[in-house]
Amino acid sequence: MTMIFKTPDAVVPAYSPTGNECALFETAWMRRLPLLLKGPTGCGKTRFVAHMAARLGLPLTTVSCHDDLTASDLTGRYLLKGGDTVWVDGPLTSAVREGGICYLDEVVEARKDVAVVLHPLTDDRRMLPLERTGEELAAPSSFMLIVSYNPGYQNLLKTLKPSTRQRFVAIEFDFLPRDREIAVVASESRLDAAKVAPLVDLARRLRMLKGVDLEEGVSTRLVIYCASLIEAGLPVPEAVRAAMIEPLTDEPDVRAALIELSGSILR
Ligand SMILES: Nc1ncnc2c1ncn2[C@@H]1O[C@H](COP(=O)(O)OP(=O)(O)OP(=O)(O)O)[C@@H](O)[C@H]1O
Ligand SMILES: [Mg+2]
Repeated sequence: MTMIFKTPDAVVPAYSPTGNECALFETAWMRRLPLLLKGPTGCGKTRFVAHMAARLGLPLTTVSCHDDLTASDLTGRYLLKGGDTVWVDGPLTSAVREGGICYLDEVVEARKDVAVVLHPLTDDRRMLPLERTGEELAAPSSFMLIVSYNPGYQNLLKTLKPSTRQRFVAIEFDFLPRDREIAVVASESRLDAAKVAPLVDLARRLRMLKGVDLEEGVSTRLVIYCASLIEAGLPVPEAVRAAMIEPLTDEPDVRAALIELSGSILR
């Protein structure tokens, strides 16, 4: 099942920038250039896109790519409706028609044939070929394609080909600096900044273990979960274990070491 989310405009989701990414996004959009966002899980890529789409007043269609996702899942297909065969636009086609933003999350997961529809759309042609209907849609100037992926946990076979990757302006994302991450977690979870600080310190410490004992560091998302559990009244050690340790590993030894480490940092 393809997950498609349409974000209602009007509300601008809060986003705390780390650099010049907002200006870069806006300039790329004005110049009709597609964007590639790279970075670890839960560091704010999706939030950034939602924020910018709302700021620019553009409809946003997000597609979470998975390993069964084909080109026609994006472009559309003929479906039987009451005895008739009717063409139904896929999310990419609708986004092109309405001149909005189409955001393909974890694009490296998708099948190879997806590149075939993305290529003419991401060079100066800005065309979406609909093979089945014989149509060639010209993307309106407000249309923007954004793809994201996490270079960390991909295996070698699952990276973007240079011919695809070199069609995008790219932004690398990383976790926020300490004080900014504390502010974001406090505002999202409504837990006091003073109580959030040790959780962020623990997260930063655990991120150093990435590649050694852990596949991925703790995401800002998990720190927000943890802070929300504490704000709701759960004891700190329980919240930390449930939100910041269990999701990271299934290895009993590693888990025990993480619990010990968290105890020493949160003391
Ligand atoms: N710079 C930021 N400003 C505001 N909120 C942030 C920021 N970075 C992270 N967050 C918070 O962290 C949560 C996770 O971020 P988000 O879902 O955007 O991550 P992601 O990079 O898209 O992760 P994934 O690769 O797993 O999809 C958001 O819901 C938001 O609350
Ligand atoms: Mg995301």
